[in-house]
Amino acid sequence: MTPPLSIDAARFLGRLGSLARIGRDAQGRLTRLAASDADRAGRDALAAWMREAGLEVMVDRIGNLIGLWRPGGRDGAPVMMGSHIDTVIDAGAYDGCTGVLAGLAVVETMRAAGREPARPLAVAAFTNEEGVRYAPDMLGSLVAAGGLAVEEALATVGTDGTILGEELARIGYAGPHEPGFLRPHAYVELHVEQGPVLEREGIAIGAVEDLQGISWQEVTIAGAANHAGTTPMAMRRDAGVAAAQVVTWLRERARAGNGRSVATVGRLRLEPDAINVIPARAVFTVDLRDPDAARLSALEADFAARLAAVARAEQVTATVRRLARFDPVAFDPGIVRAIEAAAGARGLSTRRMTSGAGHDAQMMARICPAAMIFVPSIGGISHNPRERTADADLVAGANVLLDVVVRLSGADPASPSAGAGA
Ligand code: GLV
Ligand code: MN
Ligand code: MN
Repeated sequence: MTPPLSIDAARFLGRLGSLARIGRDAQGRLTRLAASDADRAGRDALAAWMREAGLEVMVDRIGNLIGLWRPGGRDGAPVMMGSHIDTVIDAGAYDGCTGVLAGLAVVETMRAAGREPARPLAVAAFTNEEGVRYAPDMLGSLVAAGGLAVEEALATVGTDGTILGEELARIGYAGPHEPGFLRPHAYVELHVEQGPVLEREGIAIGAVEDLQGISWQEVTIAGAANHAGTTPMAMRRDAGVAAAQVVTWLRERARAGNGRSVATVGRLRLEPDAINVIPARAVFTVDLRDPDAARLSALEADFAARLAAVARAEQVTATVRRLARFDPVAFDPGIVRAIEAAAGARGLSTRRMTSGAGHDAQMMARICPAAMIFVPSIGGISHNPRERTADADLVAGANVLLDVVVRLSGADPASPSAGAGA
């Protein structure tokens, strides 16, 4: 029986710390939006670590950064690990970076131990997972999975008016490879949970078996600007009031269900944005999610009906632009079982769970068997600088990733027939 390997915890945690220092502003806030200068600096650091680890570093046309280990020049479909290193605004250090750097640690550990896999291993950092600057989210992995044409994706206009393709070229990460040039044998992503379940239940490892559906829309309500002091309340066409009604309705509608639907208005802008002018325009985003496809569709339909009713009542017009729409995803049961088995063998407690967040794994699941490993988020906090996961939990998750990849890549002499879906 070959003894279990363990990743180099100090190096893994040290790199997480280093990456978390890249993209901080004068106030110390971490913001590494996709294809920004900060993203370039983060990518440069990651690419250097990949090269140090002896990986071939490749970039595709949508900027996905991939490190490949082909033991003995071996070809074939790789077992891929990864996630993203772009962040939200004022972000934490763990979202995405954990999975990328753990993937790198897995490759280094296997190389150092002489545990050659029967197929290549790849570590991917996908472009624009967060979707904060360019919509949709998970854009790089979506393109790699063939869900969006690369030309269309490159033409995406960001919230700051920039064009993704131009920004990728500017930062030096518009690569030559066609997205999807590597079709993985299997994909496994380690990620922090970003929710409260594992910590609340005192469980070390989440074996993620599915991921909820996501609907993103941008709503523009048009009313009429007028004088705040002279316009009688009955004569107003107030876009801000209409938006406020929609925002509070969304919360009540999500709450009225069985507790699984969530609804968020994360951006809201009023124009002309002046204290004494009735808002002429309200532009806001709507993020709806539910693990059940039918319930998500019903939520969207009810939202559309409500928006129309509010517009009629307030004598404003409402137009909607679709930003993202992804159905719920079921992950590969064989990999989920392999995660449970690997955690169990290390004496780590596990539970199956549904991902509330979107992840690159959901796109890779379109083209290969895929699943995810979650580790606890302290206080369930994420998309926030207070995002935190205990070092021991991060390392435990990386070691489970290692065991699963050893098995999926045929590097484990104890299970020569191991493979995705096994
Ligand atoms: C990606 O982080 C998401 O919004 O779920
Ligand atoms: Mn993430
Ligand atoms: Mn995120």
